[in-house]
Amino acid sequence: MRELVDVIARDLAALTDSRQLTLRVRSETNDTRAFVDRRQFLTVIQNLVANAVKFSPSQREITIVLADGEFPSGRPALCMSVRDQGVGIPENELESIFDKFVQSSKTKTGAGGTGLGLAITREIVTLHGGSIRAGNHPEGGAVFSVLIPRRDTPETKDETLGTLLAVNLLRGTDPSFDRRINSLKAVEAGTMGRDTRSAH
Ligand SMILES: Nc1ncnc2c1ncn2[C@@H]1O[C@H](COP(=O)(O)OP(=O)(O)O)[C@@H](O)[C@H]1O
Ligand SMILES: [Mg+2]
Repeated sequence: MRELVDVIARDLAALTDSRQLTLRVRSETNDTRAFVDRRQFLTVIQNLVANAVKFSPSQREITIVLADGEFPSGRPALCMSVRDQGVGIPENELESIFDKFVQSSKTKTGAGGTGLGLAITREIVTLHGGSIRAGNHPEGGAVFSVLIPRRDTPETKDETLGTLLAVNLLRGTDPSFDRRINSLKAVEAGTMGRDTRSAH
């Protein structure tokens, strides 16, 4: 995961420089690997960092930390947190911002955007058996914490991850789509295709 974070940090350097933002990356574990689809996790990291940039005033810091973590079940995880020093998120909107097309009441008027980034991000993380939540730091700014399984998740032994991602995102947008998808048992069971994940 460290390598993926560094790729995004490099890709977004022009953007962070132009806003005079400092992007710091810190590993608090010797093992930053997790079992993920590389391309999809690049999207996850890019979405979270792009939001941190978008909702920060200039000359602030964005910090990405990789650390050991675990799921409530005790299963080992890699924890990735992205913290900024921006406007933060109202406490009662920490869940709704993950819904499609939703933007927080604090930022609605400015920055533009589609409100899809966090919905896609959560879908990718969930398809990997992981979890993501938003919070606010006591000293101000938002913190997004992602837990990613260290190893393959038996319950999602699948798949064409990209197809499942698209299907899950489109669910609920059109009743006839939902009807057709629900009749496709292979998609429902997540048993199509080959696995695209490996250790990153
Ligand atoms: N780092 C952040 N700081 C403050 N608010 C945030 C942050 N990241 C996301 N949000 C809020 O969550 C909303 C949804 O984010 P997202 O799904 O990425 O959509 P978009 O970036 O297109 O607005 C944002 O519009 C914003 O209100
Ligand atoms: Mg976004």
